[in-house]
Amino acid sequence: MTNTTYAAAHAASLATPEEYWANAAAGIDWERPWDTVFDAGTGPFGRWFAGARLNTCVNCLDRHVAAGRGEQAALIWDSAMTGTVKTFSYTQLLARTEKVAGALAALGVARGDRVVIYMPMVPEAAIAMLACARIGAIHSVVFGGFAASELASRIADAKPRVIVSASCGLEPGRVVKYKPLLDAAIEMSPHKPDACLILQREAAHADMVAGRDHDFAAAVAAAAPHGPVSVAATDPLYILYTSGTTGRPKGVVRDHGGHAVALHQSMAMIYGLQPGDVFWTASDVGWVVGHSYIVYAPLLAGCTSVMYEGKPVGTPDAGAFWRVCAQHRVKVLFTAPTAMRAIRQQDPEGTLAADYDLSVLEAIFLAGERCDPPTAIWLAGLLGKPIVDHWWQTETGWPITAGFRGFGLFPTKPGSGGRASTGYDLHALDDDGHVLPRGSSGNLSVRLPLPPGCAPTLWQNDEGYVAAYIADFPGWYRSGDAGMIDADGDVWVMGRTDDIINVAGHRLSTGSMEEVLASHPDVAECAVFGAHDELKGQSPVGLVVLKAGVTRPDAEICAELVRLVRDRIGPVAAFKDARVVARLPKTRSGKILRATIRRIADGEPYTVPPTIEDAGVLDDIARVFNIVARPTSGG
Ligand code: COA
Ligand code: AMP
Repeated sequence: MTNTTYAAAHAASLATPEEYWANAAAGIDWERPWDTVFDAGTGPFGRWFAGARLNTCVNCLDRHVAAGRGEQAALIWDSAMTGTVKTFSYTQLLARTEKVAGALAALGVARGDRVVIYMPMVPEAAIAMLACARIGAIHSVVFGGFAASELASRIADAKPRVIVSASCGLEPGRVVKYKPLLDAAIEMSPHKPDACLILQREAAHADMVAGRDHDFAAAVAAAAPHGPVSVAATDPLYILYTSGTTGRPKGVVRDHGGHAVALHQSMAMIYGLQPGDVFWTASDVGWVVGHSYIVYAPLLAGCTSVMYEGKPVGTPDAGAFWRVCAQHRVKVLFTAPTAMRAIRQQDPEGTLAADYDLSVLEAIFLAGERCDPPTAIWLAGLLGKPIVDHWWQTETGWPITAGFRGFGLFPTKPGSGGRASTGYDLHALDDDGHVLPRGSSGNLSVRLPLPPGCAPTLWQNDEGYVAAYIADFPGWYRSGDAGMIDADGDVWVMGRTDDIINVAGHRLSTGSMEEVLASHPDVAECAVFGAHDELKGQSPVGLVVLKAGVTRPDAEICAELVRLVRDRIGPVAAFKDARVVARLPKTRSGKILRATIRRIADGEPYTVPPTIEDAGVLDDIARVFNIVARPTSGG
């Protein structure tokens, strides 16, 4: 790969995609080759590697053991929360996975069945995912920071036969009891699982429901090791729910074959890692970044993956990331910019980093939100290592744009997400779907087909996929992000074109928060937007108009609204700011002017929209935020 230039590889991937991806597929062990590399006639835009059969777990584990890597560390679990480090060699990880697969099979889970995994950052979460892959079951991991009702909606949609969970997660200063949340979610969901496998952790013991709940350790101990089940390359490996524009989460589907090929290729091409190298992705298995780069990609490539239970700061200090890098000889670290901002806030001079030997660390990759240039520049100056921002989404499963260590094309320009990855024919489109010239901002969109690894559909919802991503610009995948491609081909992602906001690297829908606020009996109407936040990038703020005749104090109602969002969506929404206003600014047709509200709240200049119903409302909004309104024209 180092002999090829980025430009040649990218051009080849677009000119002769079938040849390009057939070559990349040589990195994967197949039980049966494909009939056709790309079948354009199936699904919303086609399917990769139709007719092929494989097992993803075999590609992650068995084949490395067979090739003599059995004694190499596959997974290092480092829990700053419990002060524990546990290393699993490839042989050990395979043996554990075979047993968990056996335990799931003993509970009736078979190929095509769904398994919801609602777990904190413990190795059993990764093992449960691999065990599902082994038996051809479809996992759906739900992030631990979601509330019971969010979990319930995912259970209702995925209809799992079994749920794997734990007694608790550990957040600084508090034990999050998962089991009561799980019980409440099952109660709320119209679909009930046949069984739950519950990992009992020391910090909290979960009460079990007789006949339904099984102790994870006992069930695994009693299980017979399970062999791999052959699946079609086009079968779903997992469903991962993500925020959509409607407030209803979307079940993003990942298939086996394309996923394995794309992720395997990305390890050398993007991250510059070879078998045996140590990769640490500081994210959570509940997010796509965790699926792809804590679990699947490092194992597909025969690397060692570090899984970290802790925070960048406070567990115990802002040197935690540097401690983990040094202790486990991490070659590449991947995290979210917000984590680096948190470290910088507490240790601006980087004195804690100086305590550790970071000579093995070669590069830091960032994603989840755009990395603000000051953070990228600070980090590069502190460590003297390349900082690579790269842009991707739950839907794509791997980077749409990146810096490419395999091609020597890195770091990225501070503020840019790098260049299009191979297979992505990326352009900015105007609102009518015409390709814009380089340098113009528009709707970042990928000409179909999307490359392997990207979601081929939504769970049992081809029409929903077309409506969400293709209908606006037929022949294209609309990313939902706005941005610009410069003369060099570097991509600048500048924000969403829909109601999605990014809070501490977590993707959230303001629409779903508005639904919650609107359900409060005193609220007549509301608007939620993402205000600038120094640490988290954005933080949600809710403005509510109360119903006529409501006389209760505003502060009391706002406190109830904050609690309501935490109870319905979860602590991860980080919704802490609700304010009462007399009116919301609207267009004459009744559309709430959220973008203008955000600009006012952030103290940015704004134009008074010509369609506004009553421009005086904007001054009221500015007063609510104690800000001097800065209209640039017309007002
Ligand atoms: N289970 C239960 N609760 C969780 C949780 C989990 N897995 N993850 C987060 N929460 C809770 C937090 O405890 C916090 O609760 P609080 O309101 O009671 O304090 C709330 O959800 C908000 O979490 P977060 O936005 O993460 O804020 P934080 O103050 O705990 O931490 C950072 C801030 C920047 C340190 C942290 O967000 C971080 O490390 N981010 C990295 C981002 C990341 O991994 N992104 C994934 C995509 S790459
Ligand atoms: P998620 O699906 O949770 O991974 O969130 C995807 C969204 O996060 C994208 O659509 C972007 O809005 C944002 N995002 C992720 N990575 C980046 C990045 N490197 N630069 C800019 N935005 C990003």
